[in-house]
Amino acid sequence: MKMWDGRFKKPSDKLMEEFNNSLPFDKKLIEEDITGSIAWANALKKIGVFSEEERVKVIDGLREILKEYKEGKVTFLHSDEDIHMAVERLLVEKVGSAGERLHTGRSRNDQVITDTRLYTKKALKEINEGLLELQGSILHRAQEDYGVIVPGFTHLQQAQPILLSHYWMSFFFLLEREKSRIGHAIKSTDILPLGSGALAGSGFSVDRDSIAKELGFSEISKNSVDMVSSRDFLLETLSVFASVGVHISRYAEDLIIWSSKEFGFIELDDAWSTGSSMMPQKKNPDSLELLRGKSGRFVGNYVRFVTTLKGVGLTYYKDLQEDKEPLFDSVFQLQMVVKVFSQVLLTLSVCQERIEKDLDPFLLATDMADYLVRKGMPFRQAHKVIGKVVGYCVENDLTLIELPVEKLKEYSDLFGEDVEKLYSWKDAISYRTVKGGTGWDSVKEQIETGKKILGVQ
Ligand code: ARG
Repeated sequence: MKMWDGRFKKPSDKLMEEFNNSLPFDKKLIEEDITGSIAWANALKKIGVFSEEERVKVIDGLREILKEYKEGKVTFLHSDEDIHMAVERLLVEKVGSAGERLHTGRSRNDQVITDTRLYTKKALKEINEGLLELQGSILHRAQEDYGVIVPGFTHLQQAQPILLSHYWMSFFFLLEREKSRIGHAIKSTDILPLGSGALAGSGFSVDRDSIAKELGFSEISKNSVDMVSSRDFLLETLSVFASVGVHISRYAEDLIIWSSKEFGFIELDDAWSTGSSMMPQKKNPDSLELLRGKSGRFVGNYVRFVTTLKGVGLTYYKDLQEDKEPLFDSVFQLQMVVKVFSQVLLTLSVCQERIEKDLDPFLLATDMADYLVRKGMPFRQAHKVIGKVVGYCVENDLTLIELPVEKLKEYSDLFGEDVEKLYSWKDAISYRTVKGGTGWDSVKEQIETGKKILGVQ
C-alpha cells in the first residue's frame, strides 16, 4: 500500500520499488524530518487545521517515533518509499486520523528540501568547528617550530630558505578563506522552504515567519518555484568540501615526502602510522596517504551531483533524490579527515638537525643577487652574475659560501667583505623584512594574527 496509490490499478514492480526507494539512505534525515514536522504541526494548529489536543498528540507521536528509532525499535516496511513517508505511516499508526492531517498544505518537495537544508546547515557548522580545531593545531606547530629554518621548494627543488613556521602558517591562512567560503554556503542554506508546497506555494496561509523562527532559519524563501528546485546550496557545499579536501591533500603530499627516509624532515607519531604485513622495518604514513587519497571522493561527489543537476529542469524531478548520498558521504568523510589531520600535525616531530644538514648553500643565490642590487646593480644583471658564480661553483665542486671574496670580485667589483653576513641562515631570514614574507618579525606577526583569529593567548 502506497500513500499515493489512489489512481493506480496495480502495485509497483518490486524492482521499481527498490530502484525508487530512498529510505536506505535518507533515514539519516529522520531527526530533521521530525523537527520540521513538529514546526509544521504548530503552524497548522494556528490556522485551525489541528485542535490544541490534536497538535499535542501529533507532536508527542513524532517525538516518540524519534525516540523509538534511536533505541532501534522502529521497523521500516518495504513499501516505505522514503523517510518522509515512513514517518507519516508510523505517525498514523500511532495517533490515527490526526496524523493523516499533518501533510495538509505540504508536499514532499518542500519537506525534503527543508530537511536537507537543516542537515546541511548543521554539517557546515560542524565542519567549520573542525577547521578551527585544525587551525589550532597549525598554530601550535608554528609556535613550537619557530626558529627552525627549512628549504622552501619550488618544482621540488630547494629554492629559498624559509621558517618552518612560515610554511605552517600558509595553511592557517588558506583555511581562513575556506572558512569564509563555508560561511557563504551557510548563508545560501539558511532559508526556509516550508510553505512552498509542491511548487506553487501552500494552499493554506501558514505563518512562515514563525516556522522559520522555530526551525532557526534566518529568512523565508521569496519564490516557491525557486525554493523547491533549489540545490545551489548543495553545489556550494560540495564544492567547498572539495576545495578543503584538495588543499588538505596538497599539504599531506608535502608531508609524505618530508617523512620519507630521503628527506627525514619529520617523523609521524606511531599512533598515526601503520606497519607492513611483510616488511617488519616499515612505518608508513598511511594517515597522510588517506588524507591525500580521500580528496578524490570530495571532488567526485561534487562532480557526481553537479552532473545530475545539469539536466534537471524546474521544479522537482526524481533525479534530485540523487543529492543525498554524495552529500552524506562528503560530510562523514570530511569530518574525519579534518580531525585526523589535526591530530597528525599536533603529534608529529620535526627533525631539526637533519633539516639543517640538508640546507643547500645555493639557497642563498637570490639573497646574493639582492645584495648586488642593493649596491646598485640592476636585478637582471645581478641574476646573470650570480648565475655565473653558481656555474663556477658547480664545475669546481664548491658551495656558494666557500668562494673567497677575492674570487667573487672577479665577477663584480660590487662584492665586499660584508657579503659574508649573508652566509648565516638566520641572517638570510632577517633580510626578508617585507610584510607577509618569511622574516622573523613577519612570521611572529602572522602567529599573533592567528592567535587573535582563534581568540587564544
Ligand atoms: N525521496 C524524495 C527525495 O529525496 C522526496 C521527495 C519526493 N517528491 C516527489 N515529488 N516524488 O527527493
